[in-house]
Amino acid sequence: MSLGRMPLANGFLTADQFEDEYFFELEPAFCASWGMFQIIEQPPPESMFHREYSFFTRTSQHMVRHFSDLGETVRREFLQGDDPFVVEIGSNDGALLEGFAQAGIRHLGVDPSANVAAIAERSEVRTLVDFFNQPTAAMIADEHGQADAILAANVMAHIADLHEAAEGVARLLKRQGVLIFEAVSLGDMIQRSAYDLIYDEHVYTFSTRVVAGIFADHGLELIDVTPLPTHGGSMRYVLVHKGRRPVSTAVAEQLAAEEAQGLHLPETYDRFRKKCETMRDRLLSILEDIKQQGRRVAGYGASAKSTTVLNYCGIGPELIEFISDTTPIKQGKYSPGMHIPIRPHADFMAAYPDFALLFAWNHKQEIMAKEPDFMNSGGRWITFFPEVEVF
Ligand code: TMP
Repeated sequence: MSLGRMPLANGFLTADQFEDEYFFELEPAFCASWGMFQIIEQPPPESMFHREYSFFTRTSQHMVRHFSDLGETVRREFLQGDDPFVVEIGSNDGALLEGFAQAGIRHLGVDPSANVAAIAERSEVRTLVDFFNQPTAAMIADEHGQADAILAANVMAHIADLHEAAEGVARLLKRQGVLIFEAVSLGDMIQRSAYDLIYDEHVYTFSTRVVAGIFADHGLELIDVTPLPTHGGSMRYVLVHKGRRPVSTAVAEQLAAEEAQGLHLPETYDRFRKKCETMRDRLLSILEDIKQQGRRVAGYGASAKSTTVLNYCGIGPELIEFISDTTPIKQGKYSPGMHIPIRPHADFMAAYPDFALLFAWNHKQEIMAKEPDFMNSGGRWITFFPEVEVF
């Protein structure tokens, strides 16, 4: 399937950068023998993760709470020994490791984006600014010893060379250690036809079957899975060195549920493609109707996902006046590819549009709770998953 010519999802840019903008073909594909769902053409990691990275976990209070809860669970259930050591791959602005720093637990974040790591350092979260791979894993083990827990949230599926990452984990993890990671779940993405979760950074969208298979090649066993509501449906995976802990029945149940959903069948992805095309046509026709009526639409949340929707559907500034976003580094810039202005939330509040297109749909609850005045003033929301809706 092709979602067309795409820019980098987090490649927010200034007008003088329009000419040199990077594009690639966004082509998700499914391998029936392996069960892997991945994009074929992959932009170089250095073009996506660098010192001007524009995603900060702390822009969502809900996600900060989610990671604080995860941290507590890890400390309570998995860190019983003396002087434990915790590593987080893709530690971003330190939202997860902060609780470990506050508890005086030895920790190290690994993240290639220097600007987000600088924010983490402000909350005393130690960060190695680098990509996680076998050499960095070996370096960390040499300097700090092996880890009791290796954590990763919304990053494992970003690593193109998964075998290299899995081998790095296997070497860095103590014999009794745990790898806990969270990733968008393929089953949920397919069920909601949430095609906007497909973009450059998400090289893979994992099913439980694939996670179990890849890590097994490196002696790591999947012992537990927990479905999560984050990002419209994610999975928390717990892995250990083979045979070190009992395997929960949740793993076999999840594997069976994925099979019952038909995640192993190519037809499932044919249906997904057709559904995406229908949703694209419907969203475009709603926006064109609104334009004909001379009413205003703003986007809400310049998420990486919005880049896929805007470019796949061909929605530009003629249909959406601006996108409101609370992230300072995005404000004053333009959306990748379609070049819609990104403005601070204050601009949204200063003159409410008639309609707000909710790109950050995964934060719907948090956003609805913040915006009663928009609706009270007659403003209406447009959402697009699992169906295009105006309310
Ligand atoms: P995400 O869906 O990848 O987390 O990105 C959400 C984007 O939306 C991010 O740029 C921050 C922005 N945002 C707002 O502008 N207002 C909000 O209330 C929330 C929760 C996010």
